[in-house]
Amino acid sequence: ARVRHYKWEVKYEYKSPDCFKKLVIAINGRTPGPTILAQQNDTIIVELKNSLLTENVAIHWHGIRQIGTPWFDGTEGVTQCPILPGDTFVYRFVVDRPGTYLYHAHYGMQREAGLYGSIRVTLPDGVPEPFPYNYDRSIILNDWYHKSTYEQATGLSSIPFTWVGEPQSLLIQGRGRFNCNTPGIEAGVCNATLPECSPYVLTVIPGKTYRLRISSLTALSALSFEIEGHNMTVVEADGHYVQPFDVKNLFIYSGETYSVLVKTDQDPSRNYWASVKVVSRNSTTPNGLAIFNYYPNHPRKSPPTIPPTGPMWDAVEPRRAQGLAIKARQGFIHPPPPISDRLLVFLNTQNRVNGYVRWSVNNVSFNLPHTPYLIALKENLTHLLDQTPPPDGYDFVNYDIFSVAKNVNATTSDNIYRLQFNTTVDIILQNANTMNPNNSETHPWHLHGHDFWVLGYGKGKFDLYNDPKNYNLVNPIMKNTVAVQPYGWTALRFVANNPGVWAFHCHIESHFAMGMGVVFEEGIEKVGKLPTSIMGCGATKGIPRP
Ligand code: C2O
Ligand code: CU
Repeated sequence: ARVRHYKWEVKYEYKSPDCFKKLVIAINGRTPGPTILAQQNDTIIVELKNSLLTENVAIHWHGIRQIGTPWFDGTEGVTQCPILPGDTFVYRFVVDRPGTYLYHAHYGMQREAGLYGSIRVTLPDGVPEPFPYNYDRSIILNDWYHKSTYEQATGLSSIPFTWVGEPQSLLIQGRGRFNCNTPGIEAGVCNATLPECSPYVLTVIPGKTYRLRISSLTALSALSFEIEGHNMTVVEADGHYVQPFDVKNLFIYSGETYSVLVKTDQDPSRNYWASVKVVSRNSTTPNGLAIFNYYPNHPRKSPPTIPPTGPMWDAVEPRRAQGLAIKARQGFIHPPPPISDRLLVFLNTQNRVNGYVRWSVNNVSFNLPHTPYLIALKENLTHLLDQTPPPDGYDFVNYDIFSVAKNVNATTSDNIYRLQFNTTVDIILQNANTMNPNNSETHPWHLHGHDFWVLGYGKGKFDLYNDPKNYNLVNPIMKNTVAVQPYGWTALRFVANNPGVWAFHCHIESHFAMGMGVVFEEGIEKVGKLPTSIMGCGATKGIPRP
């Protein structure tokens, strides 16, 4: 195994990823940032210089479990203090599994300012993948807003509440296209002729098999991705091999990664559209387009066809079906423990707390503390945190998930779930109606520090007695991010065997900012000596540093 050393400078720059000029957060001048390429068991060192001038930062390595290094998970308020302007912070961790992963800012709502990128971990030399392919490419999908994260964050945390609205465009590998003729756009701000916002081109050689690593880091949108005229065979999800299955379009939620195999077996005399569309919301955002360019056709030559329109935004069934189609690959099945030690049922609701609009789990809306949990728990500063255990369930008998709650008020807290080390934990994510009648949203939940088995999905209210009988305990897929569909539930199981403190939250940037998350602690006594580089904020200022 090797050591891969990266030097990154994080800085605000003016860019026009969708032809509209705005301030973005770039790494070494780029958004998306540089792809981290490594082999299994390599050590990654990222020396991160914060050159944002007036803003803190922290970067999370999404999908990397940080075994033995929970302090480098990069989650501000949970595992570290923020990195101050002018400071350099060194992340150092091992990528212990092959697969497709991500990195992104985990401070405030900075992710949607453009601070994100891909991590590709390949097998050690000489070890073959269980499926053949000729070329390996990464495509990262995103949605894009023209307002600054400050304006958005302020709107979300004000009375009256101002929702962020639908994104202005969709980006494929950092490129999108906003219509510069939209009324109200100031002269000079939008320029449709910039090469920067010409469509992303993926050049392919006819007669080959491509592994496309497709991932999403949208701020809000659930997406459907497709390549005109080409089926995709799904072979990997969140770093785990999947029993191959074919799709025409791939549904992907923020925080998910997939590998698909695409055969370039169509008419080679032309190019094809790749397109991405918002699903699950009745969005005004136009589809994003890229060019799937068959060599030697000109890469900028538009395909002769109308781009695919994509699936119906409101059809939940095909999305549920994709979730159900995913099984662990034969020969790579890690069977889950047959029973669990603890059951947590997490009711997802939209609420009001002191008049503010928030999201909650079991009527508790999450707030990050000033002293990061990992440090507070390890250094015995627990008196700073709310000590009452948060609720393990909700009022199953009386709560009607299909209507607006009778009482929409919730509380807010920074208390956390303490898990017994090495025990098996089941989580039922239970979706419900929002504060608007006949409305329930899709939430992609992401767990730090672990992969979980996805044991089942269902519609309506989870039945504690009958639904577990239908769990897939034979070949469930392991993931780190999974969606809970409108008015539905999703059942997960994981083993609390990674000493540390880990966030579990909705990966929609504004939902997490509005309290949709929880924190787990397990085996804190087994965590090694914390590096002093993660300290410096809140009560950690009192901890002696050498
Ligand atoms: Cu990719 Cu806590 O997030
Ligand atoms: Cu959400």
